[in-house]
Amino acid sequence: MRTTTSALRSKDLLGIEALTPEEITLILDTAEGFKEVSERPVKKVPALRGQLVINLFMEASTRTRVSFEIAEKRLSADTLNFAASGSSVEKGETLIDTVDNLMAMHPDMIVIRHKHPGSPKMLADRLPASVINAGDGAHEHPTQALLDAFTIRERLGRLQGVNVSIIGDIAHSRVVRSNIHLLRKMKANVTLAGPPTLMPAEVERLGVRVVHSLDEALEGADVVMMLRVQLERQGKLSFPSLREYYNTFGLTPERLRRAKEGVVVMHPGPMNRGVEIASDVADGPYSVILEQVTNGVAVRMAVLYLLSGGHLAE
Ligand code: CP
Repeated sequence: MRTTTSALRSKDLLGIEALTPEEITLILDTAEGFKEVSERPVKKVPALRGQLVINLFMEASTRTRVSFEIAEKRLSADTLNFAASGSSVEKGETLIDTVDNLMAMHPDMIVIRHKHPGSPKMLADRLPASVINAGDGAHEHPTQALLDAFTIRERLGRLQGVNVSIIGDIAHSRVVRSNIHLLRKMKANVTLAGPPTLMPAEVERLGVRVVHSLDEALEGADVVMMLRVQLERQGKLSFPSLREYYNTFGLTPERLRRAKEGVVVMHPGPMNRGVEIASDVADGPYSVILEQVTNGVAVRMAVLYLLSGGHLAE
């Protein structure tokens, strides 16, 4: 437990699993206030002036890394971007030694992406600085789920009772884990679909429904969230071919016609166009994929602000 005056109970954001519905709502409400900052001519507020945030990305990222950096700059924080490539990690320095050395320069927060599940928690238990998980292996990606929830709430006006179908490579996805925790806490209904080889055993225990075809998943869905097939996390393909995957689980304009009018199509990115989603859908009228990216900045501003001890303005 932190001893400052933050409205969040922990000094860290390690996952959605540990958040309460009230904390999730607080982050989303705070992000609503920050969204307007990005639309001003001068896109800056002084909330984190004098604070140093280190972005420690030990795994590839475009959206999350850039979004955190922009969020930090819009809050007037000092930011430092650390990548494994070109650092002494390449000489064999461990994560702990790397972080102990960075801590000797007194950062206030560390944002970390790492391939090993649990790395952010290991740092959080060791460090006085706030640690934010920007994706740890197949475990959690909390700010992605928060920006997804923000986007759904902005589009549909609520989360409670919304039918969200998540389709694709469930087994390797940290995005789906964080989304399931968040959507169930906020009383949304979650349906999962994907090849049996990419569906974790007993996933229903998390309070979700599992179906085995794309058409079943589309029926009655308010939101369809397509997941990237994570080819880099599979030793060999978990299905016969990419063409067969597209024919079975790829979201095409024809398949989408079976969904409700006004269905919201999401994807966390990066996309494999022509594998899990057709370009005509990704760039089509139901897609909110780039809105998700825009909202990510506001959500990350809210997380940084609240962890720094800020409160939601009255
Ligand atoms: N959604 C997401 O995490 O994208 P990046 O890997 O590009 O950060």
